[in-house]
Amino acid sequence: MNNPKKNFDNLNLEGDIDPTQRAWIEVSGKAIESNVRQLKSKLKNSCEFMAVVKADGYGHDAKVVSENAIKGGASQLGVATLKEGIKLRSFGINVPILILSNIYAKKDLLTCFRNDLMPTVSTIRECLICNNIGKSNNLKFPLHLKVDTGMSRLGFEFKQFVQEFNIIKSLENIDVKGIYSHLACADDENAFNPKSNAQLQREKFQELLRLINIDKIKNIKIHLANSAGMILGKDFHFDMVRVGLAMYGYYPFEKINEKLFLKPALCLKAKVTFVRTIEKGIGVSYGNKFVSHRKTKLAVLSIGYADGIIRNLSGKINLIHKEKLYPQVGSITMDQMMVDITGSDDIKVDSTMLLLGSEGQQLISPIDWADKCNSITWEILCSFKNRLPRVQVD
Ligand SMILES: Cc1ncc(COP(=O)(O)O)c(C=O)c1O
Repeated sequence: MNNPKKNFDNLNLEGDIDPTQRAWIEVSGKAIESNVRQLKSKLKNSCEFMAVVKADGYGHDAKVVSENAIKGGASQLGVATLKEGIKLRSFGINVPILILSNIYAKKDLLTCFRNDLMPTVSTIRECLICNNIGKSNNLKFPLHLKVDTGMSRLGFEFKQFVQEFNIIKSLENIDVKGIYSHLACADDENAFNPKSNAQLQREKFQELLRLINIDKIKNIKIHLANSAGMILGKDFHFDMVRVGLAMYGYYPFEKINEKLFLKPALCLKAKVTFVRTIEKGIGVSYGNKFVSHRKTKLAVLSIGYADGIIRNLSGKINLIHKEKLYPQVGSITMDQMMVDITGSDDIKVDSTMLLLGSEGQQLISPIDWADKCNSITWEILCSFKNRLPRVQVD
């Protein structure tokens, strides 16, 4: 029999497939907006809020997050890469955007300039490149300087900065829009303690600002705090805070004195694609690491580690259906996982189960997942792959 040649030219994969057909992430723009508004209310009026939307808005969809953060009062955005910044510009977002990673190549700094993105600069060499780019365009190249005060990642050497800043001030074609540093230990349990690393880093940063006579310099935004730093208190706020995690609805540490009611902006859901019942003593999934200790009804869900569900969570998580919890059993596989639904008669093929989010009294947070697999909330959020459609719900 001849195999008729099919014409797939008119098939629009993205358009034809329902994003909620298999597994997906629901994102609430309203939650982002309200979290930003609430966090902003803790800052003095003159303090700006930079929404950190790198890594596709911590896995939530950078466009949705940026637009809603701006609605909530964010006046600047922080990204990690040139591409992330250019993408936001292509959506018509026009607030200042700072690239938080290091852009060192001349051609990349030029792309940065042309797309109205501000680089983070950590050396005199990069300042000179930016100055030349500004000069050839008869303009000033806007940028932020970063100083290392204890993270040992990017930033000018603390001891050399005062001297180097005098050179930078003499460069006519750069516009220093900000001077910043980054906290290494702001989410430590003892960070509120006056002798903690975070407090010492803040003091070191303040000393540097005194040494460069910052009071006599106008129009440079000083910033230090991430989410945890912001929650540590007003001493950490300066002219701007750079907030990621808290804006997405999660607390960077347990003990919080501030009254904050953050709403998680993300829910993770998957459809049941198959249901089977196995007898007592039957192994489930690769390695048969789970063996049924009674007759067991299993739901197979179409979501796995290729979607970003860390395999190390196998057998450690629950899923929610109609406000009841059901344990995931056996190894999580690349594209699927099994859930013990014994005792339920309303979970069927095409039912939706909730992996992260809340329903009634039940709440499962990425914070719980992070604890269970020795990770951090940030990593759980950034692990979700593009294969999971992001669906904005409001
Ligand atoms: C330089 C910088 N500032 C701010 C943030 C935001 O941190 P958080 O998500 O803890 O608020 C990050 C995130 O890693 C960062 O790298």
